[in-house]
Amino acid sequence: MNQDQLKALVGQAALAYVPDGAIVGVGTGSTVNHFIDALATIKHRIQGAVSSSDASSERLRRHGIPVFDAGSVERVPVYVDGADEIDGHGCMIKGGGAALTREKIVADLAERFVCIADASKLVDTLGKFPLPVEVIAMAAPQVARRFAEQGGVATLRAGVLTDNGHPLLDVRGLAIAQPEALEAEINQWPGVVTVGIFGRLRADVCLLGTEQGVRTLVF
Ligand code: 5RP
Repeated sequence: MNQDQLKALVGQAALAYVPDGAIVGVGTGSTVNHFIDALATIKHRIQGAVSSSDASSERLRRHGIPVFDAGSVERVPVYVDGADEIDGHGCMIKGGGAALTREKIVADLAERFVCIADASKLVDTLGKFPLPVEVIAMAAPQVARRFAEQGGVATLRAGVLTDNGHPLLDVRGLAIAQPEALEAEINQWPGVVTVGIFGRLRADVCLLGTEQGVRTLVF
């Protein structure tokens, strides 16, 4: 199976975590696109979705799935999203698709975070994938210097603004041994909107697409 087929496998498998009548939290990315397509096959069983990006909202609507504003929903039973890396504790790097801020907001509404990913995303230590950080534009050089003090090399993602209109830094060279501690620290830096470490809001379950089928990791 190629990587896209593995993503499709876990996108389909995530339906098992969607309760009848739910408003479903929906993430962003190529793996989630498979989930959205699978969700369309059971759309009569759900109320709709809360989405983490304009791209996912558009895909949901194209399938005729109602999209609710995050602000109009207090809790959702499940949030389904991909990851750029996930470790053995369910901590993740996210934001490769630039949707990290809204992903964190919707994940925070969820009782359960189900991560869907192909097996290549499972790592021992987070940090090989460049860490995305959404920043206020005027603070980008300042935040980049702070990363340099930590041994990281931050570059501006060329030609990309988030759905919130902000630029992104991608930070290479960090070995993230303590995700929650680093997440909490970076969150304090003026000008940081969101860091793409999902430690406090880590996955509860990961459905990993492997050649042998879906491997379920429970954290
Ligand atoms: C978007 C994300 C995605 O979940 C992450 O980039 C994984 O994407 P894909 O499913 O395309 O591999 O965090 O901001």
